[in-house]
Amino acid sequence: MAGRVAGKVVLLTGGAMGLGKAATKALMAEGATVIITDIDEAAGRATAAELGCGYIKQDVTDWARWQEVIAEVEAKHGRLDVLVNNAAITVFGSIADISVEDFKRCYTVDVDSIFMGCKAAIPLMAKSGGGSIVNFSSAAGNKVSPDLAAYNSAKAAVVTLTKSIALYCAREQNGVRVNSVQPGTILTPNVESVIAGTPDPDATRAAFSVAQPIGRMGEVEDIAHLVVYLASDESKFATGAPFIVDGGLSIA
Ligand SMILES: NC(=O)c1ccc[n+]([C@@H]2O[C@H](COP(=O)([O-])OP(=O)(O)OC[C@H]3O[C@@H](n4cnc5c(N)ncnc54)[C@H](O)[C@@H]3O)[C@@H](O)[C@H]2O)c1
Repeated sequence: MAGRVAGKVVLLTGGAMGLGKAATKALMAEGATVIITDIDEAAGRATAAELGCGYIKQDVTDWARWQEVIAEVEAKHGRLDVLVNNAAITVFGSIADISVEDFKRCYTVDVDSIFMGCKAAIPLMAKSGGGSIVNFSSAAGNKVSPDLAAYNSAKAAVVTLTKSIALYCAREQNGVRVNSVQPGTILTPNVESVIAGTPDPDATRAAFSVAQPIGRMGEVEDIAHLVVYLASDESKFATGAPFIVDGGLSIA
């Protein structure tokens, strides 16, 4: 099949819904073979059936499971060209409100998982002749709020972790590039439910929209197109970089 990522084998975490599902669709449309993983088995299987991608059940915080997942991809496909570390959670709370346990939980899902994913995947990607890793940060790693202490700092950590791993891969000359993406507020089901759960959803929707100088929230395709670019050889000179696609949120 022709396409911008034709023939590439992609492993994408948290692909059952939202940005991961949209990226899977876009990658498949450009010729990639995509295997999604997700902790939510029902949603993961439903998305795999709908899109025709592979599905593996995975909790991205489990190191042993990461090694099994990579071994399964190698056994079935013989190679790995792209890893998209998309799975994450948003934990709300200020320094006063958030418990130590919830702070740690946010870091385990949002940061430790990316460390583990890269650690597990890089040897197979190097063996495959190189590839591209896309780590999901957020504009929330740049623009902070008093009520997002864990998420803001975890997403900032993803940018710096990505740079360190990118330099390691460059030093090894293993052909693996590693970049991070920083979306602004994108209207996913997750964001829809956050809006719906606030006392005045219409006011929240308006506030979420104007937070972006461009005047609206993003669409999932805005980020899916970026993932396709980073997964493809079109981005072959890009590594260690945070790619900000946020309607101007980070600079406002
Ligand atoms: N939606 C936004 O506005 C926005 C903005 C900036 C960054 N992001 C980032 O983009 C990524 C995707 O966002 P989304 O809104 O589509 O998220 P989402 O919550 O809709 O989807 C995340 C997926 O990850 C899965 N998941 C959660 N914990 C997991 C675990 N331990 N193991 C495996 N899977 C797990 C969930 O089941 C879900 O399917 C996240 O990294 C998020 O932080 C989102």
